[in-house]
Amino acid sequence: MEEAKQERKKRILSGIQPTGVFTLGNYIGAIRNWKQMQEDYDCAYFIADLHALTVRQDPAELRKRTREAFALLLACGIDPEKSLVFIQSHVRAHAELNWILCCNALFGDLGRMTQFKDKSAKHADNINAGLFTYPVLMAGDILLYQADYVPVGADQKQHLEYTRDIAERFNRIYGEVFKIPDAYIPKAGARVMSLADPTKKMSKSDENPNGFISILDEPNVIMNKFKRAVTDSETEVVYREGKDGVNNLMTIYSVMTGQSFDEIEQEFRGHGYGDFKKAVGGAVADELQPIRDEFKRLAGEKAYLDGLFARGAETAERISQRTLTKVKKKVGLILP
Ligand code: TRP
Repeated sequence: MEEAKQERKKRILSGIQPTGVFTLGNYIGAIRNWKQMQEDYDCAYFIADLHALTVRQDPAELRKRTREAFALLLACGIDPEKSLVFIQSHVRAHAELNWILCCNALFGDLGRMTQFKDKSAKHADNINAGLFTYPVLMAGDILLYQADYVPVGADQKQHLEYTRDIAERFNRIYGEVFKIPDAYIPKAGARVMSLADPTKKMSKSDENPNGFISILDEPNVIMNKFKRAVTDSETEVVYREGKDGVNNLMTIYSVMTGQSFDEIEQEFRGHGYGDFKKAVGGAVADELQPIRDEFKRLAGEKAYLDGLFARGAETAERISQRTLTKVKKKVGLILP
């Protein structure tokens, strides 16, 4: 009898910081893909609340945003029956592995991280040690779960490279413990730009609220923001170098409708930007509507969410302890 080939699914892991309601950029660039990957991979997604502490937070606000971020993941279609969903600080192994890795992380390497340099310039009054060791905590997040692939945006690429480096270094010194993770590059690598300045990435910290769409924006707000989106002085809906605003709208529309750029160009041939913007706004509003509804519903389900926190933490604890135990043995700690 032929042996049934039970192929283990590859593990995907990613985290998101609870720093406010996600934007359309987070949604298209990350969470929408996370949802799709649930079908083909063994996925783990978490709220990186420990990472959020590297910049000063209002405690009550952080608590609220952490719950909110978790509920938003669910509302976006991350299914706790299919994926492991948890809160980073609920799983002790993250902080424990962080210490051990920190003792194997070189000062010089961390000082070269561009995000550290940017953030210390931005928060010059709070260049804390956690900001410096941020990439080590992130490496631990990934390595604890022996992730095969990590979907990350361009801004986190260097941290993933760092994760691979420190994992290889650790394996070389102490023997094989960690799987070396690869970056996951989604098939349609969509990067969403600001609607107010399409040369900049869409960001929730944009001082111009017309620059970004929050995934909880009401339909009329969405329509208005698209109506005002910066384009150019031409009239043709075509994807072309130099037409950053139109390219951005076409990217968004393409993701929402599944149409190619060619198909979109055809659909809007002879129409002005006004019609096109209305269509993009409508498509986005339609896709976000059920997310907003589900988020509102979940806001009243405190006990349900608490239950999911606990369940996620328990599973994550079990998986992460396997790796942590190996690490402790390798470095010479006596197990309790
Ligand atoms: N640093 C990531 C960000 O700000 C969040 C994050 C923390 C993460 N740990 C991770 C992402 C592990 C992927 C894997 O976007």
